[in-house]
Amino acid sequence: MEQPTIAAKQPATLTLRPGTYYWCSCGRSKNQPFCDGAHQGTPFAPLEFTVTENSEVALCRCKRTGSPPYCDGSHQGLR
Ligand code: FES
Repeated sequence: MEQPTIAAKQPATLTLRPGTYYWCSCGRSKNQPFCDGAHQGTPFAPLEFTVTENSEVALCRCKRTGSPPYCDGSHQGLR
């Protein structure tokens, strides 16, 4: 099975305003950690998620997290 591209080996820590976001799952987006449409032609699709209040988040950029879109520490096992 095709693996997503590792965009970075650490999460993006951001403060998000309330709204709907699209997390890049393929790792090819140039607008990490968000989708820019670069998944076209891959088996991957962006993950839509919603934030209801101003939130500090750590969004996965290694694309190996078990709890997308959030970092779960899986990047620490990557070489
Ligand atoms: S950046 Fe992917 S699990 Fe931490």
